[in-house]
Amino acid sequence: MQGFTLHAPTEIVFGKGSEEQTAGLVKKYGGTKVLIVYGQGSVEKFGLLDKIADKLVSEGVAVLKHGGATPNPHLSFAREGIRAATEFGADFILAVGGGSAIDAAKAIAHGTRNPDMDIWKFWLREEPLTRSLPVGVVLTISAAGSETSNSAVITNTETGQKRGLLTDFNRPRFAVMSPELTYTLPKYQIACGVADIMMHTMDRYFTPEANENKVSEMTDEIAEALLRVVIKYGPAALENPTDYQAQSEIMWAGSLSHNGITGLGRTMDFSVHGLGHELGGRFDVAHGASLTTMWGSWARYVLAVNPERFARYAEKIWGAKTPEEGISKTEAFFKSIGMPTCFTELGIGVQPDDVIDHLADGAVFQGKRLVGTFKPLDKNDCAAIYQAANK
Ligand code: NZQ
Ligand code: ZN
Repeated sequence: MQGFTLHAPTEIVFGKGSEEQTAGLVKKYGGTKVLIVYGQGSVEKFGLLDKIADKLVSEGVAVLKHGGATPNPHLSFAREGIRAATEFGADFILAVGGGSAIDAAKAIAHGTRNPDMDIWKFWLREEPLTRSLPVGVVLTISAAGSETSNSAVITNTETGQKRGLLTDFNRPRFAVMSPELTYTLPKYQIACGVADIMMHTMDRYFTPEANENKVSEMTDEIAEALLRVVIKYGPAALENPTDYQAQSEIMWAGSLSHNGITGLGRTMDFSVHGLGHELGGRFDVAHGASLTTMWGSWARYVLAVNPERFARYAEKIWGAKTPEEGISKTEAFFKSIGMPTCFTELGIGVQPDDVIDHLADGAVFQGKRLVGTFKPLDKNDCAAIYQAANK
């Protein structure tokens, strides 16, 4: 087993009614003036926002609400939030929502604590992030894993760039995870979440260390169990969104898939995320759907790098006899939950060559990086994979 560092400090409060504990947790982590960041209205509509804000106020915590985070949250929304938090004197940022609200909250925390800095420089890695405000989370969708992850993904609509920032300053202080809060999700969002959770695991499972037979069995088995549980309970949650066991299995899997534990002692690949982010940045499609659109094309392109790894995946996850059958069964599962496996299914239609070229150029950051590590992909590789999905 390779050495590793695991820093997963987020206090997780999981279970029915756990949102009642939010005010106490904010105070425990030092919040006295709280900016609540949320999305486009679901938490208002279902009463969660007022419930949490009222409890905070009744416990002597000052509150300012900052709503409107879109899926693929915009840099401009974060900048507005930084202005609001600064004027208010916020000392704590509370996200109530999904990955988009959480990532926006993380960006606002970074910017408010670094008032003289253009925060996009952190995402472009032009400036190091050395301090931030504390962030807490009340999760309403099982998907991105941002409630415990070290990542925050922001889209700059001026440049069309969607970029992730990895830093331990992105780890929330606490995550309140009440599966009942997900009962109101549209089925499409449940499916996008299932896809994203699987992809966080698979983007770590297909690792270059597997190509050298240096992967830990323990980490592999955790990842494989997680995938099987999500594949079992995802369809159950779609069938009945108020199935507590199904929603709780998915919610817990969502955090485990992205807090680092499914990738311990190995190099992350994240090719499919790299390819998917370009689709998200350009076409504003749901994150989970962007990933399933690319996965099969990526898998067939890189299969020859390590067929044994794909054979193990096929057998352990799908009971399939060949790597190709494992890939096909994965795509069939995505389709069965309503997720796309190519551009037309994603709803963006077949794209001309210049768009494929632009996507590939964006994926490699205009020649500044290769995508992924299982098979490091250059621009031509990326273009070939986009082209394979372009149907
Ligand atoms: O905006 P509202 O009105 O709240 O509606 C949201 C949104 O339309 C809705 N929703 C959420 N909870 C709900 C609900 N509707 C009804 N009932 C509820 N309980 O669902 C829609 C999707 O929400 P969003 O927050 O966008 O979903 P998700 O958690 O999938 O987050 C996606 C974002 O996270 C990023 C993605 O790139 C994308 O921008 N990611 C963040 C990661 C991280 N920080 O670690 C890792 C991921 O790989 C991902 O890149
Ligand atoms: Zn993801």
